[in-house]
Amino acid sequence: MQKKLIKLVNDFPWYFLIAVISAEIGAILLILQYKQVAFFANQVMYIGKKFDSVTGILIGIVAAVFIRGIFQFFSDWFSQKMAVQIKSKLRRDLIKKATRVPFHTIQQRSVFQTLMVDGVEALDRYFSQYVPQILISIFVPISILLFVFPLDELTGWVLLLTAPLIPVFMVLIGRYSKVVTERQWTKLNRMSHFFIDSIRGIKTLLLFNQGENQVHRIKKVSEDYYEVTMKVLQIAFLSAFFLEFVSTLSTAVVAVEIGLRLLYGRLGFEEAFFILLIAPEFYLPLRNLGLRFHAGMNGVEAAKNIFAFLEQGEPRNNSFFLNQKFDWNGFKNIRFNNISVIYPESKQKVLNSASFNIPIGKSTAIIGPSGAGKSTVFQTLLRFINPVAGVVSLDDLSISEIDIDYWRKQIGWIPQKPYLYNGTLLENLKLGNPDVNFQQINQVLAQTFLRDFVARLPYGLETKLSDIGTQISSGQRQRIAIARVLLRDCQLLLFDELSASLDPIVEEQILNNLKEFSKNKTLVSIAHRLHTITSSDEIIVLNEGKVNAAGNHQFLQSHSDLYGEFLKTYFGVMA
Ligand SMILES: Nc1ncnc2c1ncn2[C@@H]1O[C@H](COP(=O)(O)OP(=O)(O)OP(=O)(O)O)[C@@H](O)[C@H]1O
Ligand SMILES: [Mg+2]
Repeated sequence: MQKKLIKLVNDFPWYFLIAVISAEIGAILLILQYKQVAFFANQVMYIGKKFDSVTGILIGIVAAVFIRGIFQFFSDWFSQKMAVQIKSKLRRDLIKKATRVPFHTIQQRSVFQTLMVDGVEALDRYFSQYVPQILISIFVPISILLFVFPLDELTGWVLLLTAPLIPVFMVLIGRYSKVVTERQWTKLNRMSHFFIDSIRGIKTLLLFNQGENQVHRIKKVSEDYYEVTMKVLQIAFLSAFFLEFVSTLSTAVVAVEIGLRLLYGRLGFEEAFFILLIAPEFYLPLRNLGLRFHAGMNGVEAAKNIFAFLEQGEPRNNSFFLNQKFDWNGFKNIRFNNISVIYPESKQKVLNSASFNIPIGKSTAIIGPSGAGKSTVFQTLLRFINPVAGVVSLDDLSISEIDIDYWRKQIGWIPQKPYLYNGTLLENLKLGNPDVNFQQINQVLAQTFLRDFVARLPYGLETKLSDIGTQISSGQRQRIAIARVLLRDCQLLLFDELSASLDPIVEEQILNNLKEFSKNKTLVSIAHRLHTITSSDEIIVLNEGKVNAAGNHQFLQSHSDLYGEFLKTYFGVMA
């Protein structure tokens, strides 16, 4: 996992290099500064020189402090910059991926949300602090050793031998903290899923007097998260204490060993003083690495989930037809060939070896009881879900061979529950075709009987739908969705329960307008309107994921008992 993360650094090598080199220069400046301090102390305190004779050195020390500050700033700034860049890159990748792997459940949505917000954020400290610190904690102690060894070999050895204590301890504690961080992550996911779910269903919950209960449940889930977070903090504090202890102890060993030799005159005052000053600095980067290790671990755990999301399989996307004009009239049928579909997280075959043809340039109606798999046929056509068996093809050309973006551009889909996103009404209308002009928009508004609605909006087409969100009725919502498709230049129309929430008075006319629009196009409607069904060129009767019968109205009347029964039950007409 860490390898993949380090790879991300590769994309921004300069930031990383500048951060580490600045830190290293800062460290060398610090060493030089301490050398000057030791020299100064030796001259003034030990030899007893006049203060005036060494003011140059004093200025040197102050300058070193100042310049070191600048390099420290550079180091922090560039590591932060690198982290920000990597975070945006990951967020971009996540969003890109999300457009390619459709979410079928609310769990998937909340997992995605957690990844986007907390997941990516958890990597901030990993990149801005932990990763640069790894190199810093190698380079800085080595530089210090390079100065110390020539001065005093014994101290050099003491430093060298005590240095590994900290990393070894870190690895030990890392094993344990990994388990706890993993648990923390799972709980965070659960909590956010639960929370989104409750907010979405708040009205239903209130209606059934479950508000109070839900509050208790949320409290319980949050407490679980709180507990495991405290565990993580506990480990972090404990290890901080231990790191402090180890490095203080090691510094003490150096101090004693130096003090004794100073006492017996085996070591000069200047060397001894310098070593005493620099010894804590030797352990400092290692100690910091230990402290940042936890931030790092948290990031690694988040990264696991991020990469799992980014690396999941997506519907195959060949660039076979990319940018190539696509002649629908060159094909006869969209073929469903023994298609079986299973939604993730369920085992049931929602479509079960279904085979049927959708004639191109004609109208097809799909009928069948609720749960028969009608909307799933659309999900498959839209390539939001891949069949587990069978091939959907344009005559002999499998649609999975067609570039997915290009394929979807051909489709005008009105879902069962149309979605209006958080922009202005105009933006929502132009979603399917950004190039339409106002004349076209006005015409379509008239066709969908939306003119009065728009006229009543405070800013007309420029009204933000989020501002009037709940004031849009499902009929208006449906008509906006219809208008959106009417503005789109598409060849394959998928209408799911189109007239379900349309006003009967305008329904007839809107449907006529749509009929005009869908002339020479391939229209598939999931219909519950008698006329739409009987006037379709092809009718497909679905039941429990299987095709029960297919043909036109006349054919089915004489050949399918289920069709007759369906018409009788739903419309009270005798076939
Ligand atoms: N995202 C999903 N995850 C799991 N199962 C699903 C999902 N969507 C639908 N199903 C299941 O697939 C089956 C068929 O659903 P589908 O939406 O295709 O039915 P439908 O024929 O359109 O029904 P309706 O007339 O009620 O809209 C149902 O049993 C449903 O529970
Ligand atoms: Mg449906």
